[in-house]
Amino acid sequence: METVVSGIRSTGNLHLGNYFGAICNFTKMQHENDCYFFIADYHSLTTHPTPADLHGNVRRVLSEYLACGIDPETATIYLQSDVQEVAELYLLLNMMAYVGELERTTTFKDKVRLQPENVNAGLLTYPVLMAADIIIHKATKVPVGKDQEPHLEMTRKFARRFNNMYGVEFFPEPEAYNFGKELVKIPGLDGTGKMGKSEGNGIYLTDSEKVIRKKVMSAVTDSGPVENYQNMSEPVKNLFTIMEFVSDPATVNYFREKYNLCQIRYGDLKKQLAVDLNAFVKPLRERIIEISADDEYLRKVVQTGAGKAREKAARTVREVREIIGFKPF
Ligand code: TYM
Repeated sequence: METVVSGIRSTGNLHLGNYFGAICNFTKMQHENDCYFFIADYHSLTTHPTPADLHGNVRRVLSEYLACGIDPETATIYLQSDVQEVAELYLLLNMMAYVGELERTTTFKDKVRLQPENVNAGLLTYPVLMAADIIIHKATKVPVGKDQEPHLEMTRKFARRFNNMYGVEFFPEPEAYNFGKELVKIPGLDGTGKMGKSEGNGIYLTDSEKVIRKKVMSAVTDSGPVENYQNMSEPVKNLFTIMEFVSDPATVNYFREKYNLCQIRYGDLKKQLAVDLNAFVKPLRERIIEISADDEYLRKVVQTGAGKAREKAARTVREVREIIGFKPF
């Protein structure tokens, strides 16, 4: 049995990238492993949400999570800010993290580019907090999308450094995890990069049928197929990538063949993709509406999760304090 930890920032609604990158892997694992799934609301402070937004964001992401099939009876679901031990471990790990290595992290550089007016220290130490989230449960597997690989690498580095510094075998080195061979990167509909919350190029699990159709029909393509399909343009490749996740293989093959014969009509491809995306999103959207209306259920889930997560986290931090050399008088 593995110990599994995964998290999502509470900034904006969940999209297909979140679902296929992290959530679906977690829901598959939750019954055979010791699983912890949390909402990274401390992390969301790096973008300065207003007090009025913060709670609503957390509530929304929590409902969406649960709707995706996370079972609170089996897995531990909690809010990061309910487990204050995470903040203590973050502080302790910060003493072993070097400014130079944090500044070199690609995700930090990206964030600086995205929000140059708000380069706070929380952005710099983002990977340290993420490492604390993971190793506080002594996790061995972390279901994440491809964009989180650098953070996982840093987490291993900090775990190893702690063990070496104190001559212990305390923290395991966790691995990024996906059921497929490769970590997943779901592209956006704008022809470039990955689907993201801040990029405005995503299909959200709460999008209506009409919105999904509109987004897909206006997705970027190109002026037509090229003879060698290996030279397929990025935007069209992206549509095929998304299709592979939501359509049945026969449908994908059909359109691939049409492409190879240079007979494809992108309008047909998009229409089919919109139908398949809608079939995929509909049950999730309905469940989100149901769950988000149930205050009592949400309260119970959060309270139970906080209790279970804190128990484990408190034990780890107690042991870490001993290892470091804090002693009672
Ligand atoms: P966040 O909130 O940006 O994304 C949550 C999860 O969704 C994955 N993801 C994607 N996967 C594939 N394709 C995409 N287009 C795509 N977009 C997002 C992310 O890889 C991630 O797995 N730092 C984390 C939150 C976090 C965390 C942790 C995760 C904090 N502490 C501890 C795991 C363990 C983040 O910003 O994820």
